Amino acid sequence: YDYSPTIEFLLDWYGQNARILPWRENPKPYYVWISEIMLQQTRVEAVKAYFERFINALPDISSLADVEEEKLLKLWEGLGYYNRVRNLQKTARILVSEYDGKLPKDYTKLLTLPGIGSYTAGAIASIAFHIAEPAVDGNVLRVMMRVSGSFDDITEAKVKKSLEEDLRAVMPKDRPGDFNQAVMELGATVCIPVGRPLCNKCPLMHLCQAFKNRTEDKIPVKKEK
Ligand code: ADE
Repeated sequence: YDYSPTIEFLLDWYGQNARILPWRENPKPYYVWISEIMLQQTRVEAVKAYFERFINALPDISSLADVEEEKLLKLWEGLGYYNRVRNLQKTARILVSEYDGKLPKDYTKLLTLPGIGSYTAGAIASIAFHIAEPAVDGNVLRVMMRVSGSFDDITEAKVKKSLEEDLRAVMPKDRPGDFNQAVMELGATVCIPVGRPLCNKCPLMHLCQAFKNRTEDKIPVKKEK
């Protein structure tokens, strides 16, 4: 599917509607990484306080690599999915020993690190390093399947892969991080999963196939496994 017509509308909308968030004000790679891992399981509003506390206690990669487990787990208490914070420390240690203490400016290298899959690698690459890689999570899948009117089953890996390819082909090279965050933000606030999406507030309404066909409540398709 050709998503290129969405770009100008998404970037304009994001320019006017982006929330001010702690990790957006200063998108240091470390901050983008920590916030994206937290945001995979927890809503933006709840993440804010955890994020501030975490980076106050562990302001950089080397402090994360060195912190004792008990203190690390305490900082994560309430967020759940503790393997994520264990992977954060594993990766911090790899960064210290193999990458000069920094996150690599390279999508493929990011993908090799524990806890960093295609979504997180794309988010870090695009937001922190301005590399034109997509960051496809559940929000992005929902928005884009509705735009294209696709009944593909989003639980299938090949559907996500194919969306990543389609987006990679059209990502704006000057604002890849804004593009990714625009789609995430649209999915979180307008093209919502439950109830009716707020189509009358959507910058993509005029080119959305699901809106046109009134199938927004049927898409995305998620087959039971
Ligand atoms: N959800 C996951 N990552 C996000 C981000 N960078 N901005 C807003 N919502 C998000």
